[in-house]
Amino acid sequence: MSVLFQPIRFREVEMRNRIIVSPMCQYSATDDGFPTDWHLVHLGARAVGGAGMVMAEATAVSPEGRISPWDLGIWSDAHAEAYRRITSFIAQQGAVPAMQLAHAGRKASTHRPWQGGKPVGPDNHGWSPVVAPSAIPYNEGYPVPHEMTLVEVRQLVDDFAAAARRAASAGFRAVEVHAAHGYLLHEFLSPLSNLRDDEYGGTFERRTRVVVEVARAVREAFPAELPVFVRLSASEYVDGGWEIDQSVTLAGMLKDAGIDLIDASSGGNLPHQRLQAYPGYQVPFARAIRERAHIATGAVGLITAPQQAEAIVAGGDADVVLLAREMLRDPNWPLRAAHALRAEITWPVQYERARF
Ligand SMILES: Cc1cc2nc3c(=O)[nH]c(=O)nc-3n(C[C@H](O)[C@H](O)[C@H](O)COP(=O)(O)O)c2cc1C
Repeated sequence: MSVLFQPIRFREVEMRNRIIVSPMCQYSATDDGFPTDWHLVHLGARAVGGAGMVMAEATAVSPEGRISPWDLGIWSDAHAEAYRRITSFIAQQGAVPAMQLAHAGRKASTHRPWQGGKPVGPDNHGWSPVVAPSAIPYNEGYPVPHEMTLVEVRQLVDDFAAAARRAASAGFRAVEVHAAHGYLLHEFLSPLSNLRDDEYGGTFERRTRVVVEVARAVREAFPAELPVFVRLSASEYVDGGWEIDQSVTLAGMLKDAGIDLIDASSGGNLPHQRLQAYPGYQVPFARAIRERAHIATGAVGLITAPQQAEAIVAGGDADVVLLAREMLRDPNWPLRAAHALRAEITWPVQYERARF
């Protein structure tokens, strides 16, 4: 019997299967962070397609936390209201609506990928300065970030908490804190992007402090019956950088802070990273964190085949899988995978006549 298609619970939230639509920026919001019809259709189609959870893209907790000027935001109550139609549609289809909460740090204010993805300034919907733990640009051609003051760091923690509260009021039944891919929280973790000498930099304990504070604040702000996940870059693939052993230790600290699952991704903080992507390349990170920190994990990265996804959850590498690009190729991937694995899945009644 398929494990992938067995329901799984996090707190009071039951997912009908162990497949999550991984958060994917669509660069299709209004230029003040509101969702558009694109988000309703994009996320809605993947709920129709049978996923257990559909996670909205990196959604900024403050305007300057957007990766691009066309990212989603949740920094006001009006934003929260605008997501209701989307969360209610996803839930009606039997999927759990989730939102990834994010701040882009020194990688904020960039163009859409299909317009080159390079930094954009205030003359083109962008903003200045971008912020970071230390005044080190991401790469050549990127602006030198403003080093955040202690007051700004505390504000960041409050912004994440307020965003979590709004996400709940918008109908999202899970949130994920984005602490991966070289965005602001990851920048604090890495000794290569965080050179602070105050309580938020230096030792491991200090570099991880803001992530733990954000996790605790989000956990506190989000309803106790609903789960909170954290996405980490388990390794940044650079000598002297953030590594899997540190991720395992941090995962244990996050578990103690009430976090329900670590979504194990990697890379993104340093342009000279030595990343080799192959099918399931990040699965060993999910397994290591699950085994050594005793917390549920999600595996992500080049998971495309039903048998592959089944083997990951059945073999104890991870509790859930997250699929990104394959879900763009085929929003109905879960319906197809259930057929391939001879598992039970409920089809949308409107599509019954197409059932395998
Ligand atoms: C179009 C696109 C947008 C993405 N946006 C996000 C994002 O908002 N947040 C995030 O954590 N990862 C983002 N990612 C990374 C994916 O969630 C995923 O981790 C990565 O693509 C590897 O999974 P895959 O091989 O199934 O695509 C994005 C990926 C793609 C292709």
